[in-house]
Amino acid sequence: MRVALMDVRGDILQRVAEELTADGGDALPITVDLSDAAATQSAIDAALAHYGAPRVLVHNAALLITRSMLEITFQQWQKEINIILQAAFILSKAVWRPMIEAGGGSIVYLSSGSGYKGFIEEVAYNPGKHGIEGLMKCLALEGKAFNIAVNAATPGAPINTPMSDSNYTEAQKQHWVDPQLLAPAFVFLAQQDASGITGHRVAARADGSWDAIDLL
Ligand SMILES: NC(=O)c1ccc[n+]([C@@H]2O[C@H](COP(=O)([O-])OP(=O)(O)OC[C@H]3O[C@@H](n4cnc5c(N)ncnc54)[C@H](O)[C@@H]3O)[C@@H](O)[C@H]2O)c1
Repeated sequence: MRVALMDVRGDILQRVAEELTADGGDALPITVDLSDAAATQSAIDAALAHYGAPRVLVHNAALLITRSMLEITFQQWQKEINIILQAAFILSKAVWRPMIEAGGGSIVYLSSGSGYKGFIEEVAYNPGKHGIEGLMKCLALEGKAFNIAVNAATPGAPINTPMSDSNYTEAQKQHWVDPQLLAPAFVFLAQQDASGITGHRVAARADGSWDAIDLL
C-alpha cells in the first residue's frame, strides 16, 4: 500500500516510514499537530496532492490526560477534543469528495470504552470519543449513497502502548497485549465499502477475531 502517515512525533513517523519502505511499501511521513485545524488541513492537502484519493482513512491519534473537572482548563479540554473530534472531521471532510469521485472507500475511527460509557477524570477524552461515534453513525448513513463505509474500532483487549503505560493500573498491565495482535480487525475494516460492514463499532480482539456491534 501507499500510506500517508501523520503524527506530531516526527521521529516515530520517520522510523515507521523507513520500516514500511524497507518492506517494499511507499510511505509519506507528515509531521503535524492534529489539534491545530489549519495544520491538519495542510497535512491532508499534502497527502491528497501526493497520492490522490485514498481508499482508506484511519483516524487513530488521541491524547488522554486524566484530570478532574476541577483541575482541567478550557485550553487543555479543547486540545484533547480537537485531536480526537475536530481532526476526525477535517480529515474526513477532505477525503469525502475524493472518495465519492473514486467510487467509494473506508473510514475507520478509533473508539474506546470511553465512547459509550463514562469514566472518572476523562472530561475531555470521553466526550471526544462519544463524539467520534456520533460522527461515525451520521457519516455511515450519508456514505451509503456513495459506497463509503464508516466504522469505529475499539480495542477488545488492553493494549501495550505509551497511552496505556500512562493510564493503566499495574493490574491492567498484567494482561495487556501487543497492538499488532489487533491488526486483522483493521485490515478487515479497511477492506469494507458500503455494501459490507458500515455504521458499526468493531471490537478488535487479541486472537485476531473481531465482533461487530450494530449501532445504526
Ligand atoms: N491504549 C488503549 O488501551 C486504548 C484503548 C481504547 C482506545 N484506544 C485508542 O487507540 C488509539 C491509539 O491509542 P494508543 O494507545 O496507541 O495511544 P498512544 O498515545 O500510544 O498513541 C497515540 C498517537 O497519537 C499521537 N498524537 C498525540 N497527540 C497528537 C497531536 N496533537 N497531533 C498528532 N498526533 C498526536 C501520538 O504521538 C501517538 O503516536 C487512540 O485513539 C486511543 O484513544 C487505546
